[in-house]
Amino acid sequence: AVQKAPSATLFYFRGARFPSPPVSSQGLELVESFEVREDDVFVSAFNKSGTTWTQQIISLVTAGSNFSEVSKIPLGKRVPWLERADLHADAPPIISQLKDSPSPRLMKTHLPYNMLPKQAREGKGKIVYCARNPKDVVVSVHNMNFINDYLQPLSWEETLHEFLSAPPANLWWNVIPEYWSHKDDANLLFIKYEDIKKDLRGHVVKIAEFLGRSLSVEQIDEVTANCTFAAMKDNQATNLSRDPVLKEKVFKRGNEHGIEFMRKGQVGDWRNWFSPQQLETFEAFHSEKMAGTDLTFEDEE
Ligand code: A3P
Repeated sequence: AVQKAPSATLFYFRGARFPSPPVSSQGLELVESFEVREDDVFVSAFNKSGTTWTQQIISLVTAGSNFSEVSKIPLGKRVPWLERADLHADAPPIISQLKDSPSPRLMKTHLPYNMLPKQAREGKGKIVYCARNPKDVVVSVHNMNFINDYLQPLSWEETLHEFLSAPPANLWWNVIPEYWSHKDDANLLFIKYEDIKKDLRGHVVKIAEFLGRSLSVEQIDEVTANCTFAAMKDNQATNLSRDPVLKEKVFKRGNEHGIEFMRKGQVGDWRNWFSPQQLETFEAFHSEKMAGTDLTFEDEE
């Protein structure tokens, strides 16, 4: 019988709050001094903002060939999570294991910019950052809390409250503007979920160019076909609710209710969740916090 995951406990590291599992406190200690290689690629995103989508695009863009085959390898193996604990409790954290991985290493992270490996902040390796409008992020977070057996399901009202009152180091309105302030760094590409939705193929090309990969028209088409919502929902390597281990260990509650990791994949689902009053409060908070930046989101499809 597969053991059910223990529920996460929250811990603080340099002022930011993390759930363990899946994040490893021992792993976090090693991030700052992590030795970055020139051809490393970090996929970074706030939770529920298009991390998986960007991981899939980057994995295939750098695969060169056999896209459909590569696409079947569990995504967590192709683009491991930098600050994650190994699923096997006795194994060292993922970051320790990455030392021996062949180049080019592709890695995912949810860390704020100031907590990325020092050498990456100094320009070594490449970072692709994917941001999403915060109203759809909080809706997706709410559903993730519900479907993931590690996490505590909260009411929608409670989720909203938590999202707006997160510790400063975790707060969406601090984390995203900090990444945005690095959008012109030579080693960082800032993309938005809403833009990928509008033009997936264009983003495959954009990301390939950023990574210095040249793909033929056929290759671009094949990568794109494997990165659509339908393809990724159908694929147990990307739709974690269908992963043979995780569907028993982590996503039982979600699967029982018919809500999958690849949930809706839309821009503007927030309209189905916010009351007029909640929207007003959220928008006022957003305007105040974003006053100092020129970052905007198109949050309607
Ligand atoms: P929804 O819950 O709104 O459906 P992350 O990977 O950062 O956890 O983000 C998960 C969100 O990205 C989920 O949003 C998921 O459905 C969406 N997503 C993943 N792959 C996608 C794709 N190919 N197209 C559109 N949305 C995608």
